[in-house]
Amino acid sequence: MPLPRHSDTFTLGSRTVKRLGYGAMQLAGPGVFGPPKDHATALTVLRTAIASGVNHIDTSDFYGPHVTNRLIREALAPYPDDLVIVTKIGARRGEDKSWNPAFSRDELTHAVHDNLRNLGLDVLEVVNLRVMFSPHGAAEGSIEAPLTVLADLQRQGLVRHIGLSNVTPTQVAEGQKICPIVCVQNHYNVAHRGDDALIDSLARDGIAYVPYFPLGGFTPLQSSTLSEVAQRLDATPMQVAIAWLLQRAPNMLLIPGTSSMTHLHENLAAAKLQLPDDAIRALNAIAAPVGAASVTSV
Ligand SMILES: NC(=O)c1ccc[n+]([C@@H]2O[C@H](COP(=O)([O-])OP(=O)(O)OC[C@H]3O[C@@H](n4cnc5c(N)ncnc54)[C@H](OP(=O)(O)O)[C@@H]3O)[C@@H](O)[C@H]2O)c1
Repeated sequence: MPLPRHSDTFTLGSRTVKRLGYGAMQLAGPGVFGPPKDHATALTVLRTAIASGVNHIDTSDFYGPHVTNRLIREALAPYPDDLVIVTKIGARRGEDKSWNPAFSRDELTHAVHDNLRNLGLDVLEVVNLRVMFSPHGAAEGSIEAPLTVLADLQRQGLVRHIGLSNVTPTQVAEGQKICPIVCVQNHYNVAHRGDDALIDSLARDGIAYVPYFPLGGFTPLQSSTLSEVAQRLDATPMQVAIAWLLQRAPNMLLIPGTSSMTHLHENLAAAKLQLPDDAIRALNAIAAPVGAASVTSV
């Protein structure tokens, strides 16, 4: 007998959000730098996402920099009551479009105030500390100093909840000793499964896992298995990639990014796609699972 589907909502801090949200990074210009290629379309994408029921948007002031936050404010303020905007701090952009760590107390404090101003908010609902110890992904190192600064900003009432991004399980455990962690945002998708064990342990603790690059990011996923399953289910490969993530774990919150109205409609429609068990088994075989349970049919 098939197991029941996961709920289409999950807890994020003190709010309940739909598990299919929207990531705003793709709205900035090429290289996530400068203005969008089409300002009017960027506003329409944001407004359509909200009108379609999305109530979780992921952003950062280092997209542009400042571009996506200002677009979100222009398109959506005054914000709907149920909308949760999640931002992140811990990086700054160079003139050459580079991404640089920005972890000092001064930089983190400025980043929170920049996000508040550019989003037009009095308090940020969720702020992720984006860790940057290595340009190649999550890498070990203590996060105590920057997370203590963010926890201080939370105590000042500027930040309601704190999450972590680009972190190892050891850093998540370290972070949880410093302050409550409501979400973890790491690189994960059907072909990149290093966080399998972490996802399951966060699910047991009721903590949201938010994969970045759910569709492969700057090099969108390509896989004959994805294409075959998509063809069989009369869907697109990206819809299958989204559906696989939604069925992977109940605490998985999706933020696929797009600057295209066509892709936005396609991605949102994936919430209705239920993958049969044999399709999930085929998709599970795209990448070797790392750590704990991977084969799940809910
Ligand atoms: N914490 C971090 O370090 C971190 C890092 C990266 C991203 N993020 C967050 O995660 C979100 C998601 O990541 P992402 O946007 O980089 O990557 P993604 O969602 O994996 O993929 C986005 C790419 O896929 C394309 N795409 C989207 N929908 C498609 C569809 N239906 N068919 C074909 N192509 C499609 C987009 O191009 P089009 O614009 O042409 O649709 C874009 O090139 C970001 O928006 C950002 O908020 C966080």
